[in-house]
Amino acid sequence: MNLDQEGESASVDWQQYEEEARQAIAAAATPAELDAARVRYLGRKSELKLALREVRDRETGATLNRVRDELEARISEREAELEAAELERKLTEDVVDVTLPGTPYARGTLHPITQVRREVEDIFLGLGYEVYDDREVETVEDNFDALAFPPWHHARSPRDSYFFDERTVLRTETSPSQIHVMRERQPPIYMVSMGRCYRRDAIDATHYTMFLQFEGLAVDEHLTLADLKGTLREVMRGLYGPEREVRFRTHYFPFTEPSIEPDVSCPFCDSQGCRVCKFSGSIEMGGAGMVDPRVFENVGYDSERVSGFAFGMGLERSVQLRNDVPDIRLLWQNDLRFLRQF
Ligand code: PHE
Repeated sequence: MNLDQEGESASVDWQQYEEEARQAIAAAATPAELDAARVRYLGRKSELKLALREVRDRETGATLNRVRDELEARISEREAELEAAELERKLTEDVVDVTLPGTPYARGTLHPITQVRREVEDIFLGLGYEVYDDREVETVEDNFDALAFPPWHHARSPRDSYFFDERTVLRTETSPSQIHVMRERQPPIYMVSMGRCYRRDAIDATHYTMFLQFEGLAVDEHLTLADLKGTLREVMRGLYGPEREVRFRTHYFPFTEPSIEPDVSCPFCDSQGCRVCKFSGSIEMGGAGMVDPRVFENVGYDSERVSGFAFGMGLERSVQLRNDVPDIRLLWQNDLRFLRQF
């Protein structure tokens, strides 16, 4: 058998072999054809490889190696050519028709409350306020005492609020954020804090045991009620349109003095009177006021030097007004038929 192979390889005309192989390689029009040529002339069982294994003398060895190197180089060359041609073909033939309708993705939407929440954050960021993230489980100290709630205030009762024990409560408002920021740092402070609050209300179309508030706090030197009014007007215009006006009614909160309730002119009837504003021409927005000096003292500020204002407002209200949602419960029932509308 050795003899046979030797005889065979000896009889191969390598120049002709090389020429044949070059032609086969050049003629290969696809990667598969090129591969077939490679197997035929350079593969493990090709005449060339078999001959290389049997080489006895230097000269034959050199010739065969040169033929092999040459053919390998031709194959890589051809391979690159074919790839380039394929790319060229794809670029010219597989043209994408961008006018064809695509396959639509099933996209979700943000909850209407989240949408308004983000808008409110944007409005305050635009006013230079910092968005402050706070906790929902509060100490009685921060939720009531530091905010100067009198001992008899009804919110301190377990009939109104959710207590874990005598010292811990689910926050009933976002106002304890005022205490937290002021304890953490010195004025000037311009912050907004937003999130869930909890009260023991009977659930109906306008009440829920959980609701969202945003709380604003500004502490600086020389802040007045006029600054509060201007700020609230800016926020209301951001939420309900550039025509809105803000009106104040006096009120009482333990931690502000004076305390007021801001009303915004009704965006639905332009203050003409309609069902939404109950024919009063304006809509109640929440609570506000100038920070009470006692609160400044509770956090160690000099109430003679600094002044500030605060305001707290419900988010659901805005969501309902803006989207005409008649029942607050719809916002928490997670009914997709409702949520998909936003
Ligand atoms: N915390 C008050 C409420 O929930 C609102 C408020 C905030 C009032 C800030 C004054 C200042 O009713």
